[in-house]
Amino acid sequence: MKGFLSTVDYPLEDLERLLHAAERFKHAIDVSKPLAGRSVALVFFNPSLRTRASMQVGIYELGGNAVVLEPGGTSWTLEHRDGVVMDGDKTEHLAEFVRVLSRYGSAIGVRTFAAMNDWSEDRVDPVLNAFAKYSEVPIINLESAMHHPCQALADMMTIREKLDAGKKKVTLTWAWHPKPLPMAVPNSFALAAAQMGHDLTVAHPLGYELDEKLMETIRHKAMEAGGSVQITSDIDQAVEGAEVVYAKSWGGKHFYGTPDRDIAERAQYREKWIVDEGKMARTNHGIFMHCLPVRRNVIVTDGVIDSPASVVIDEAENRLHVQKAILAELMKVKPQNKRAAD
Ligand code: CP
Repeated sequence: MKGFLSTVDYPLEDLERLLHAAERFKHAIDVSKPLAGRSVALVFFNPSLRTRASMQVGIYELGGNAVVLEPGGTSWTLEHRDGVVMDGDKTEHLAEFVRVLSRYGSAIGVRTFAAMNDWSEDRVDPVLNAFAKYSEVPIINLESAMHHPCQALADMMTIREKLDAGKKKVTLTWAWHPKPLPMAVPNSFALAAAQMGHDLTVAHPLGYELDEKLMETIRHKAMEAGGSVQITSDIDQAVEGAEVVYAKSWGGKHFYGTPDRDIAERAQYREKWIVDEGKMARTNHGIFMHCLPVRRNVIVTDGVIDSPASVVIDEAENRLHVQKAILAELMKVKPQNKRAAD
């Protein structure tokens, strides 16, 4: 593994190996320190609780040192586009920023959300790919415009932990939220669920479709792994018999650049598109999942998130264990940077 940008880059056996390693870290069977004497840079363009805290704690527990940078806050504002005349508000180009960090650390984690101005730009993950282009060390995606693979792997670990290792009926449902949000979490959850061979249902109102090309990949991965994919705009049908209900809101890609149009469109879905006790009663003793942060009584009712069916806190804990597994795996490869003495 030269980096961890999306689970799509890894065959099932690699994902299985990571999940196995994560379980060993979780149960203190593996207490190795593969980051001893090494540093990892964590670059946050956007806010975070779980990702930042779990990466810092994980790096410490693996014996390493985390260097946290916030472009525009604790480090310079950054330009990622090639060939730009930098006479605006950006001080440093990623070409220098990333190559300099590559000389200090053994890996770079980056969080860079979708700008949500133009779908055609966000869908190619421009900032994450600029990091990958310039880096001499592995890049870990800590949520980009299109993917949140660390979250997805923690989600797969949680499903397996709560429900055993077999194929499950997994429902990913859109939920109403007062403003449009990026699609990285639903994209990566659906992809990983397909890669693991689950029977996946994706529920959303018309107009909130996920990326078509990604859905093609998800269908292909599901078929390869012996699973299936269904799309529906009927949330009641989607949760019927589900063993996992994964809630997440996201913006309609046709509304990128015009959020007020999205907000007006989604208003009609406020009452129906919430995970409540009635919907959970339709499931097959289903568990409730969400990546967090979550708006209570908007995405999910208090009655559901506070019920025994809710696994959101264990799901957040599992971020720590899967990220330790990813870091440990990446450290098996000799660093490719020019300072690569370690
Ligand atoms: N789930 C998740 O990535 O949480 P944060 O945004 O708090 O890091």
